[in-house]
Amino acid sequence: MALTIDQLLKELTLEEKASLCSGKDFWTTKAVHRLGLASWMMTDGPHGLRKQKPNGQGFLDAVPATCFPSGAGLASTWNRDLMEEVGRALGRESKAEQVGVILGPGVNIKRSSLCGRNFEYFSEDPYLAGQMAKHHILGVQSQGIGASLKHFAANNQEKYRMTINAVVDERTLREIYLPAFETAVKEAQPWTIMCSYNRINGTYAAENPWLLTTVLKEEWGHKGLVVTDWGANNDRVSGLKAGQDLEMPGNGGITDAAIVLAVKKGTLAVEVLDGAVRRVLTVSLRVLKERDPGATYDATAHHRLARQVATEAMVLLKNEGGLLPLGSKKKIAFLGAFATTPRYQGGGSSHMVPTQLDDALTECRKVTPPGVKITCGAGYSQVGDVPDANLLAEAQTLARDSEIAVVFVGMTDAFESEGFDRNHLGIPAGHVALVEEVLKVQKNVVVVLSNGSPIEMPWLDRVPAVLEGYLGGQAWGGALADLLFGKANPSGKLAETFPARLEDTPSFLNFPGESKRVEYREGIFVGYRHYDAMHISPLFPFGHGLSYTTFSYGSLSLDRTAMGEQQTVTVTVPLTNTGKVAGAEVVQLYVGDNEASVIRPVRELKAFAKVFLAAGETKIVELVLDRRSFAFWSIDEKNWVVETGEFELSVGSSSRDLRQFVSITVTASSEPNKVWDQNACLIELKTHPAGREFYHASLAQFLTMFGSVEPEDPARLMMEAMISEMPLRNLVRMGNGRFSEAQLDELLAKLNRP
Ligand code: BGC
Repeated sequence: MALTIDQLLKELTLEEKASLCSGKDFWTTKAVHRLGLASWMMTDGPHGLRKQKPNGQGFLDAVPATCFPSGAGLASTWNRDLMEEVGRALGRESKAEQVGVILGPGVNIKRSSLCGRNFEYFSEDPYLAGQMAKHHILGVQSQGIGASLKHFAANNQEKYRMTINAVVDERTLREIYLPAFETAVKEAQPWTIMCSYNRINGTYAAENPWLLTTVLKEEWGHKGLVVTDWGANNDRVSGLKAGQDLEMPGNGGITDAAIVLAVKKGTLAVEVLDGAVRRVLTVSLRVLKERDPGATYDATAHHRLARQVATEAMVLLKNEGGLLPLGSKKKIAFLGAFATTPRYQGGGSSHMVPTQLDDALTECRKVTPPGVKITCGAGYSQVGDVPDANLLAEAQTLARDSEIAVVFVGMTDAFESEGFDRNHLGIPAGHVALVEEVLKVQKNVVVVLSNGSPIEMPWLDRVPAVLEGYLGGQAWGGALADLLFGKANPSGKLAETFPARLEDTPSFLNFPGESKRVEYREGIFVGYRHYDAMHISPLFPFGHGLSYTTFSYGSLSLDRTAMGEQQTVTVTVPLTNTGKVAGAEVVQLYVGDNEASVIRPVRELKAFAKVFLAAGETKIVELVLDRRSFAFWSIDEKNWVVETGEFELSVGSSSRDLRQFVSITVTASSEPNKVWDQNACLIELKTHPAGREFYHASLAQFLTMFGSVEPEDPARLMMEAMISEMPLRNLVRMGNGRFSEAQLDELLAKLNRP
């Protein structure tokens, strides 16, 4: 009979306990054979399994697995059910490959459009990222496989990623960088969380007790284990004390010995070690129990799923004159090497070997009706970044001889990858030249993009249609065929803002930092929160995405027009497909605080629903808001606070295409829990029931003292302002004996009384 965790903890020697806190090798945990504890494997990655072959040719030589669109594309589906379906497929493949934990999803917020790993991450918005992460994890774990939510936390750039110190204030962490992790932990309980490489406010994430213990374990109630990102451990004993349970990869026992020594010297309590071992064992026993040597999966069905996901991931950015779908066009030119050699995934730890790979040209030829001819030209060389005159001339001829040109451009692995950040928003010069040369001879141009993060589009005004394909996974070509020829209707929405210029981006002046220190000075104003507050027009806003049909939004109704802080409110909106084909709309609900006492974003996404409608069909869409939808992180209260007042709810098709508005009054359950001391200002008393009268009386007294009683006195406004902002201590010190220390103490006691 297998031993329980308690029995194991009793039986394990100190050395064995320490050994369980680091890996055996790059991908597996250590076994304790004498107690029947086997070793198990974890491996990448977020959008497909990258299990390196045991005796393979290194990093890129992995067993074939289904490659889904990378994180940026997955999030653009805004489809929770589909995300869960992808998770289930990842779980099945992991199980069949005898992998116990799959390393993903990655939920870091896209602080800068330049981050090299943005293609793997979901969004600039914490709510959307949290929803995607939650459903990814629920899907994976429903198959008895663990997920690894990564990279915890504030890992928002690749430059100096292993040592950079991210300097971020707590409100910004709580409102922007942590909520996606929080939602995923509270609502999906990932078996493991991967702590990131970087430092946060001076302390490595891997040895940050506030992050790993106070917030993660105590506040959010995480029950699984914390694993380091590969090589993120700095000081093993400090890490263990902070709540880091498993160090990966293994290091030949160097740090196990450090743990043993620390316990023997008395600098590490054995209870702390036991806590970590208990968490490791909890996950280990679960993994081992779920093992199924006979597990298999249906690669064809997973490929079909990858195609559906890619279809929903692509975002129709522009479609002037309804140029798409291609419909009746008989002579079509496909230009650009990506039409035949897709760029369907990004570089780094998520780079995998697909089970099969669709290219756009082959797939499109399969679906075109008889009589339609698609010609093809490479347009640019895949090597280097220099325009190729011969390929351009050939492409121009093909474009001229066609009714329409579909131009395939985007970024290459040299432009974006794990490991380095971009330093501009441009794409290879050869790709730009192709668009420009084609535009000289053909006005019907569709640009299809393959990239993992926003790019600039200097040609946008002259190109009637643009389809953002993201890094669409192995079935991207088939999905594209479905969309270009109208077998499917685009329904993707941007999960990130596309900026018009790099200079417009929120972190422009503070990215990627200097001297291995990056200050998040834009604070909570990340993504659309920044563009909205600054009234900057982006190239394409957050939430944007067109369809081949149109949708109309009816008026909003609420199940209550005033709510208490602890209540929820249901927002109802009728949505009609007013066009001629079936389609899906993502209904987005944003909340703005009209009367905030602190600086807040103009509006924030707090709910959404993806709704599928037949032509002419209407559905009633319901979106629910709760306390957290209205709250901000108060630095005074060190907690989430909802303030009494009016909030505006806006519902629409993107963050800049809001169709319906309604306001609601929220009443806070209690006044903020403020501690009053002698440095509170006189005017602050105005908000306190026990202080209001005192405020008016003191103001009048001081005005008399300073000789400014008459309302028409030109100095009165200034005097009133100066007195109002006086700290209470000055009532005693400047009051000429009118107010004593004892009276001040009495006043403070009254103000602080619960
Ligand atoms: C990456 C992780 C990945 C790990 C294992 C690290 O370099 O940051 O995302 O899971 O390697 O490949």
